[in-house]
Amino acid sequence: MLTKVNVSLKARPKSKYNILLGDGILSNWQNWLSIQCPDKQIVIITDKIVENIYAHSFSKTLTKNGYNVLILSIEPGEESKVQSTKEYLELEMLKAKFGRNTLLLAFGGGIVGDLAGFIAATYMRGIRYIQIPTTLLAMIDSSVGGKTAINTPYGKNMIGVIFQPSLVVMDLALLSSLSKILVINGLIEALKIFLTLDNKSFTYARLNLNKLLEREPHTLKSVIARAVKLKVKVVKIDEFEENLRMILNFGHTIGHALEKLSNYHILHGYAVGLGILVEAKISQLMGILSIENYELISRVLNSIGISKDMLSAFNADEIVSIAKGDKKNHSGKILFVLLKDIGEVYTKNDMVATPVDENYIIQAFNSLL
Ligand code: GLY
Repeated sequence: MLTKVNVSLKARPKSKYNILLGDGILSNWQNWLSIQCPDKQIVIITDKIVENIYAHSFSKTLTKNGYNVLILSIEPGEESKVQSTKEYLELEMLKAKFGRNTLLLAFGGGIVGDLAGFIAATYMRGIRYIQIPTTLLAMIDSSVGGKTAINTPYGKNMIGVIFQPSLVVMDLALLSSLSKILVINGLIEALKIFLTLDNKSFTYARLNLNKLLEREPHTLKSVIARAVKLKVKVVKIDEFEENLRMILNFGHTIGHALEKLSNYHILHGYAVGLGILVEAKISQLMGILSIENYELISRVLNSIGISKDMLSAFNADEIVSIAKGDKKNHSGKILFVLLKDIGEVYTKNDMVATPVDENYIIQAFNSLL
C-alpha cells in the first residue's frame, strides 16, 4: 500500500520581505535594523572600496550602539566571487564564533551581494541577511529576488542557490559617489527589464537618458522603482525560474559569454548591453522583431556608449561555444529570450525562452561587425 506523507514547509527566512527605497535610509538605521537583529550579532560583508567610503563608519556606529560587529572586506572585482573567498569569509565568521542568530549585511555591489547571500544561505544551514546595494546595478537587479552565486572556471554563477534576504535597503544617497560608467552599468539592466516588459518605462528612460546620466535624483528614483516593481512581479510568479523569470536573462546569454571571454574585464552591464544588441539582432533576423524596433534599441544603446564596434574584440564561434554551456540550456540547444516588440517578448507554448539555431547567432554577430 502506498503511504503518502505531505511535506508543507515555510521557506526560511520567510520569502516575504520589504524593499526600502529612499534618500538617507542608512542614517535612519534604527528604524529597520533592530527588529531584524534582536541579538545584536552582525557580520558585515563588504569590499575594500565600500568599506572605506561607507561600511567602516557604519560598523563603528553600530558598535557604539551595543552591537557585536565583525566587518569582513574582500578585494573589489569579479575575481573575488569564487569558492576560496566564500570559504575564507565563512571561516572568519566561525573563528569569531558567530552563531545562527547572526544577521549578515551584504554591503556593496552585486559581487558582494551574491557572495554574502550565498554565505547566508549555507552558514549554519542558513542565517538572515539584508541586502544593502551600493551600486545602481545591484539596486536594479541583483539585490532583489534572492539569486546568490559564485563563479567557476566553467562559467559565471554556476554554483549558488536562490535564498531570499530579510530586507533590501536601497539608499539613493549611496549613489552620489558613483561614476558615469557605473551609472550606465546599472541603467542597462533597467533597459533590459523595460524592453522585455514595459514599453512605457522604456520610453520614459529613453527620453530621460541625460538626466539619468547626470544622476538627477527624481528620475533615477523613478527608474529604480519601476525596474524593481517589474522584477518583483516576475519573481513573485516564478521565484525558481521555471519559465517567466528567464525573461530577466534577456541579453545575458551573450553577455555572460562576453564576460567570460574578457576574463571579467568587461563590466556586467556593458556585456549585457552588447548581449541585448546581439539578441535583438537575432530576434530581427528571425523575423520576430521589426527592423525599426531593432534600430531604436541600437540607437539608445549607442547613445550610452554601447557600440557594436566593441564586439570586434570577440569571436562568434567562441561565443557560441561558451553560450552552449549556459545553465539555462537543455538538449544541446541554446536558449534565448527573444524580443517581439518593445516591452514584449516572444513566447512559444507559453515559454519565454526559445531554442535558437547557432547559425542565427553567427549571422547576427557577423552582421553587426
Ligand atoms: N538577475 C536575474 C534574476 O534575478 O533572475
